[in-house]
Amino acid sequence: MCAISVKKMLKVELKTHRHRYPFYAGRGLLSLSGHILSRHLPPRSLLVVSDEVVSRLYAEEFLRGLREQGFQPFLYTVKEGEGSKSLANAARLYNAALEAGLDRNSAVTALGGGVAGDLAGFVASTYLRGVPFVQVPTTLLAMVDSSVGGKVAVNHPLGKNLIGTFYQPSLILADLKTLETLPRREYISGLAELLKYGIIRDVKLFTRLEQFLPKHLEEVKSPVGSFASSDNMLKYITRAVMIKGEVVFRDEKESGERRILNFGHTFAHALEAASDFQYYLHGEAVAVGMAMAARLSHLLGLLDARSTERITGLIKRFHVPPPPSGLKVEEVMRAFYYDKKKQGEHPVFILARELGDPFVYKDPPAHLVTAVLEAYLHKGIL
Ligand code: NAD
Ligand code: GLY
Repeated sequence: MCAISVKKMLKVELKTHRHRYPFYAGRGLLSLSGHILSRHLPPRSLLVVSDEVVSRLYAEEFLRGLREQGFQPFLYTVKEGEGSKSLANAARLYNAALEAGLDRNSAVTALGGGVAGDLAGFVASTYLRGVPFVQVPTTLLAMVDSSVGGKVAVNHPLGKNLIGTFYQPSLILADLKTLETLPRREYISGLAELLKYGIIRDVKLFTRLEQFLPKHLEEVKSPVGSFASSDNMLKYITRAVMIKGEVVFRDEKESGERRILNFGHTFAHALEAASDFQYYLHGEAVAVGMAMAARLSHLLGLLDARSTERITGLIKRFHVPPPPSGLKVEEVMRAFYYDKKKQGEHPVFILARELGDPFVYKDPPAHLVTAVLEAYLHKGIL
């Protein structure tokens, strides 16, 4: 027996109709990995998938914690970045798992951001028809979004996340200390996804972020440091996870309500695709996309001026990069038609009637979408 000595660890119980799993969040959890995992999985062989940056920073501590409790981890490191979410890497991971003799009693663990999580989860869901999967997110975006809810995927040359499954992890372990080494841009990218939950479901969270973020954003450096692992952040992260968990419980496979989690994402994905995924970090594009979704909601007469201003005003404080020079409205419009959320030929947007009240809007008038895009691309208006 060993008493786990972390000052503060919060636990959110997540469930779908067939699975139940915990999200643990706290500071200093990596070194306790073995204790925490063994509450849910008896010690076993583990394929640990990480990227080169995260592995350099955190693999030693994480693996030591696992070994101390009798796990046998095999580390497989991929290059950092979106390019690693590929079928070729999935195949390499299957080879590594087979060579290490991993059987159905083994498990796959992701240690890293959304890239490691999506790739490792895809492999876990398909290796030997599925082995247990553990998420250890190390970016803010992965803590509040990608590690929760079971979407796992790799990219296809024709688009992002096109080859994937829904596969819930056995547990998620989020050590907020890891956020301290995040580059500022990556951290802000995660803050955008955090803000999304305030906009779509929790006006109180939105209001807190409205008070907290402006000063925080002015002060935050690169790497982020202890700002990112504060008690406030712990509360916001667990609140976001609760919100996502509730939505996923009601609609795991995204046939309805789960689509609200894509607030701002139709614009975001189109901007990312039209700029060849080279310009924005995902959360930066989401920040811009959420401001655009608010403006479009307003132009449609749905969202009042005050709420629109509150959303866009806060997003301006994120100081995301300016629009890519030379990017044309038509190029972004074309990208809508490759969006996974489209229905037939009609792009689908998640818009808002008010803060906390999002809904699905199919095929808004093209001239209004164009107006929002022009304002942003030509004048930088968010
Ligand atoms: P990422 O995994 O590429 O990580 C971003 C960068 O931060 C990388 O360079 C990484 O090496 C570095 N990094 C990670 N943790 C670090 C740390 N603690 N300290 C210092 N550097 C660190 O990107 P991401 O933003 O975490 O995730 C983006 C991916 O997530 C995309 O592929 C996106 O499609 C996917 N995603 C999935 C879902 C889902 O529901 N499955 C939801 C949102 C996004
Ligand atoms: N990131 C959106 C979702 O998980 O549905």
